[in-house]
Amino acid sequence: MTQDELKDAVAAAAIDEIRPWLDRNTILGVGTGSTANYFIDRLAELRDEFKGAVASSDATAARLEGHGIEIFELNTTGSVPFYIDGADEIDPQLHMIKGGGAALTREKIVAACADRFICIADASKRVETLGHFQLPVEVIPMARSYVARELVKLGADPVYRQGVVTDNGNQIIDCYDFAIADPVAMEARINAIVGVVTNGLFAARGADILLLGTETGVERSSK
Ligand code: A5P
Repeated sequence: MTQDELKDAVAAAAIDEIRPWLDRNTILGVGTGSTANYFIDRLAELRDEFKGAVASSDATAARLEGHGIEIFELNTTGSVPFYIDGADEIDPQLHMIKGGGAALTREKIVAACADRFICIADASKRVETLGHFQLPVEVIPMARSYVARELVKLGADPVYRQGVVTDNGNQIIDCYDFAIADPVAMEARINAIVGVVTNGLFAARGADILLLGTETGVERSSK
């Protein structure tokens, strides 16, 4: 199977996972990225079985609306029963690195409000230890150099992601060559740097369910 076919397979599996729980009052949290896009496209077929969605990015909102799915503001919905999103890396404890598409802050906010986080990913995203993929950090623009110097002290090789402005008007620093032995502690440590909006470690609030697309089918694991 191609990587795109694996992404579509896990999107279909996520639909099967949530469908029994949907009713006309259900508002779903929806993530960002190529795997999430497969999910959004399949969600369109269920448009009449739920109320709408909270989007984790402007791009996701546009794609949902393109399918006629109503968008709701998180401040008015409160919690959502499910948040469905991809990942750049995921470890056996279902900790993740996210933010390859620069949507990490809104993704983390919606995930924080979700009863269940369903991660959908192809097998290339599974790792034993997080940090092979560069860790994104969203920063207030005037703090970028300061934050980069602090990240060097933590052992990272920070690189400014040129030309990218997040949906929140901020900038992204990517941390390369950064072996992350304790994702929960490192997530908190980076978030404590003044000027950091958030970082792409989703460890304190990891996934609850992983649907992983492999050559032999979709593997389901949960906490
Ligand atoms: C968006 O900022 C990211 O967190 C994505 O969820 C993550 O990069 C996975 O994207 P793909 O499904 O495109 O690999």
